[in-house]
Amino acid sequence: MRHLLSTRGITRDQAVQILDVAEDMADVATREVPRLPVLRGKTVVNLFYEDSTRTRISFEAAAKRLSADVINFSAKGSSVSKGESLKDTAQTLAAMGADAVIIRHQSSGAPEVLARSGWIDAGIVNAGDGTHEHPTQALLDAFTIRRRIHGQAARGKGLEGCRVTIVGDILHSRVARSNVWLLTCLGAQVSLVAPATLMPLAIGEWPVEVDYDLDHALSAGPDVVMMLRIQAERMHDAFFPNAREYSRQWGLDDERLARLPESSMVMHPGPMNRGLEISAGAADSPRSTVREQVANGVSVRMAVLYLLLAGAMEEAA
Ligand code: NCD
Repeated sequence: MRHLLSTRGITRDQAVQILDVAEDMADVATREVPRLPVLRGKTVVNLFYEDSTRTRISFEAAAKRLSADVINFSAKGSSVSKGESLKDTAQTLAAMGADAVIIRHQSSGAPEVLARSGWIDAGIVNAGDGTHEHPTQALLDAFTIRRRIHGQAARGKGLEGCRVTIVGDILHSRVARSNVWLLTCLGAQVSLVAPATLMPLAIGEWPVEVDYDLDHALSAGPDVVMMLRIQAERMHDAFFPNAREYSRQWGLDDERLARLPESSMVMHPGPMNRGLEISAGAADSPRSTVREQVANGVSVRMAVLYLLLAGAMEEAA
C-alpha cells in the first residue's frame, strides 16, 4: 500500500487485511509497554488544514506507538496562513525527509493532488478532505462493528449480512461516503436516512437504500445505527427549519433508543452535538460504541501506517 486516499475501489481482501493487522495492533496496546520498534527512523507528518482533535491525536499516538518521529504541522500559525501553497509546503516537508504525510484539508481531492503531484515522495494518508472521504474513520468504524459482532474471532471476517443505518447530514459527510464504500465492500447492507435537503443529489447511484423517515428506518431493527454530526460549518443555507425540529425528526433520542433491539450498536464519529443529533442517554448507553471507536482508531491507524511504511501491499485506491 503506497497511499490511503479513499475507500472507494478498495478490495475486500485489502480491507480485511487492514482490519486484521489492526487486531494485531490492538493486542500490542494491551502489553505493559505498548510500543513496537517497526517505524524507528521514519518521520510522519500530521498536516492539518482543518480543526481536529481526535483524528490528529489518534494518528500521533499511532505513529509514536510504532516508534516513528512525529511532526505536527497545523495550518493555523504556520506560513500557510501567510498564503504558502500546498506545493511549497509539500516541498518543505520533502526536504525534511517526511516518509508519510497525514493530511486533513478543507478541499475535496487535496490528498490526491499531493499523492499524484511528484512534489513529495511520501506515503499520503487522507485524514478527511472536504466532503469527500475519511478512510481511516470508516476503517475504525468497520473494525468496531466487526469486533462487537465477532469478538476474539474477528480475524479474516467481513460484515456479511450486517445492516447499518447511517443517519443525518449525509450531504456534507466524508464519514458517510467512506463508510458506504467500505461497509458495502465488506458485505454489509447500508441504508441512509436524512431530510431530503441533506441527501446528496447523486444518491441513486450509491449502493444503498434511502429512507427519509427515521422511525420507519429504525422499525426494521438495524444492527448498527450510525449518527452523523450536523456540520454547521459546511452549511451556507438553511437545510432544516431549526435545531428542535431536526432533533424531533432525525435525532436519536432516548425514546427511539428504547425502541431499538438490545443488540443494536449506536455509533458516532465525534464530535457529538449532544441534544441535537444524539441524546446524552443514547451517547452514553451501553449500546454506544463512541469510546470504543476512539480507542480502535489508534489500532487502525497503526495498521495503516505500518502497511504504508513497513509492510508490502498493493496500492489501495
Ligand atoms: C469527522 C470529520 O472530521 O470528518 N470527525 C472525526 O474525524 N472524528 C466527523 C465530523 O466532523 O462530524
